Amino acid sequence: MKNTEYIAKVLVSEEQIKARVSEMAAEVNAHYREVGADELIVIGILRGAVVLLVDLIRELDMPLKLDFMAISSYGGGTTSSGNVRVLKDAAEDIRGKHVLIVEDIVDTGNTLQCLLQLLQAREPASLKVCALLDKPARRKVDIKADFSGFDIPDEFVVGYGLDFNSLYRDLPFIGVLKPEYYAK
Ligand code: IMP
Repeated sequence: MKNTEYIAKVLVSEEQIKARVSEMAAEVNAHYREVGADELIVIGILRGAVVLLVDLIRELDMPLKLDFMAISSYGGGTTSSGNVRVLKDAAEDIRGKHVLIVEDIVDTGNTLQCLLQLLQAREPASLKVCALLDKPARRKVDIKADFSGFDIPDEFVVGYGLDFNSLYRDLPFIGVLKPEYYAK
């Protein structure tokens, strides 16, 4: 049993996440069936998307290759810079392949926009995004995930892969920390 005394409130419960991830997997399966994709490259964005990734791919029903990228975003604070750096690139050659990016959250949209530009230049057959969370109120660039789990209000959240100062990724739900823990 996890100690969750640092959580002020739960925004999305474990049960809600499970149900929505299954629905998203069904949407992803239906989409790639429709376009006749015989193989998919799933690129998980480290480290926040890992928990969603492992739950999602086990419900996908086409042959897929798993890959990872790491992008710098917050560096310890809670605001994205718009200045995105690739820390680890994908290993697979994506030219002519169907590619699904798996992200934890679309916040300002800066990270996703840079990532899409970068990967589009490699000429995949298609490029789609699946993200667990969306914070529309914070958006700075006009961008949206193709498969999106939950819209949430403008609050900094942790859990199910998302961190604050690299902590709390292991929580099975999405929650907001008590203010004193953000000050640490
Ligand atoms: P964006 O470039 O502002 O869209 O930020 C995207 C990245 O910032 C996400 O992939 C997360 O890693 C991080 N991020 C944004 N909002 C939150 C949050 O509420 N909690 C934890 N990480 C967040």
